[in-house]
Amino acid sequence: MELANKITRENVEIMVLTFYGKVLKDDTVGPFFIAKLGDDINNDYWKPHILLLVNFWSSIALGDESYNGNPLAPHFSIGELSHGVFQEWLKLFFETVDSIYEPEVGAIFKERSKIIAGNFMRNLGIYTL
Ligand code: HEM
Repeated sequence: MELANKITRENVEIMVLTFYGKVLKDDTVGPFFIAKLGDDINNDYWKPHILLLVNFWSSIALGDESYNGNPLAPHFSIGELSHGVFQEWLKLFFETVDSIYEPEVGAIFKERSKIIAGNFMRNLGIYTL
């Protein structure tokens, strides 16, 4: 597939679905999501999560204000998150972004995800350099 040179809500949805497809197959990050939402991305728990995340990333990248939640909150109650789990999450996210967007376009997602992951880790008390 040709890499996208522009961010649209449609390709954000593809990016989010591709990312969680990878997450579900990953032994490090997958179990946190499976425990909360189950292992079928088409089930009734995953559907609202996917929509929330499409809104989240569209709000960041397109400024469409479709997300107005508290992104940090659920991460306090999903088990023992560690620095290593965040590293793996970022690795999968970067791989996904690179598979969909041209580098200059994907950079916005990569930069923002790194900053947010750092903020989450600081708030969770698991930040290490
Ligand atoms: C160790 C890495 C992470 C794990 C295991 C993880 C897992 C989860 C889980 C299980 C939920 C709750 C799903 C639900 O009950 O609906 C969630 C929600 C969410 N996560 Fe993460 N997450 C991680 C990192 C991140 C990062 C780095 C970001 C952003 C860059 C992020 C953004 C969000 C957002 C926006 C929500 C929805 C919040 C809301 O309810 O409004 N997560 N995450």
